[in-house]
Amino acid sequence: MTDLVLTEQQGHVLVVRINRPDRKNALTHAMYTALGDAVEQLHENAAIRCVLFTGSEECFTAGNDLSDFAAGLPGAFEETPVGRFLFLLATATKPAVAAVNGPAVGIGTTLLLHCDMVFAGNNARFQMPFANLGLCPEGGSSLLLPSWLGRVRAAELLMLGGAFTADDAYRLGLINRICEPADTEATALDTCQKLAAQAPAALRATKELLNRPTLEELKTTMLVEGKKFSERLKSPEAAEAFKAFMEKRTPDFSKFD
Ligand code: COA
Repeated sequence: MTDLVLTEQQGHVLVVRINRPDRKNALTHAMYTALGDAVEQLHENAAIRCVLFTGSEECFTAGNDLSDFAAGLPGAFEETPVGRFLFLLATATKPAVAAVNGPAVGIGTTLLLHCDMVFAGNNARFQMPFANLGLCPEGGSSLLLPSWLGRVRAAELLMLGGAFTADDAYRLGLINRICEPADTEATALDTCQKLAAQAPAALRATKELLNRPTLEELKTTMLVEGKKFSERLKSPEAAEAFKAFMEKRTPDFSKFD
């Protein structure tokens, strides 16, 4: 159990709040387990018709806890807390929505690719700095981003790993609406309540049809990415990047070939 992820049922909506402000909501193994448990409730509990992922007005999540990254992944990717969470989310049959303010780094951006709708504050900063950390794409991003945004845009986001704004994300088609940060969560929750009031089997059929063209390939991709990601976590490049983060400096990759 962790109190760093809070869940609360509001009507038929399960609100899942990432709550680790002193570490910019960075996600630990225990927090992924709690996120996975929440998505399992979405799968299993008939009273829950929609899930909302949120953080605070200042921060969604700074992504994986970098100290946990430095320790490597405990086991095969799909059996790890993060792998379980991502697979449960990617195969969810009921709607998932996200409210994003401030940083949404790494998995903070890639988990959004598995949400049906995303609302972002004008303070949102998205980033997938996997290559910058000596790592590689995860969460199905190497499949979904090129097919949704086009190959060159996906390559820019994944190879340079720079931060991009809510305006950029809207232009790229990654989010539905830009809000004042104080309104993001309420706007997203209002949408969740509307989704929860829709005919549930019709929504399940709609989601199944939206996901069907890529679902099998997505699962395979996530496994391949996960294996490579685990290997990259043990690489000297990643070790240099994690050390540099702890020392608050830019990593020096000049000695690697
Ligand atoms: N893992 C562990 N600790 C993290 C963290 C992470 N992913 N992200 C932030 N923190 C910690 C910082 O080390 C800092 O700790 P300190 O107060 O002991 O120095 C604290 O959270 C606050 O972060 P800070 O960097 O001072 O906040 P900021 O507002 O200036 O910047 C971010 C916010 C998210 C842009 C920045 O923290 C960041 O880039 N974090 C790393 C993101 C990342 O690479 N994630 C992995 C993606 S694959």
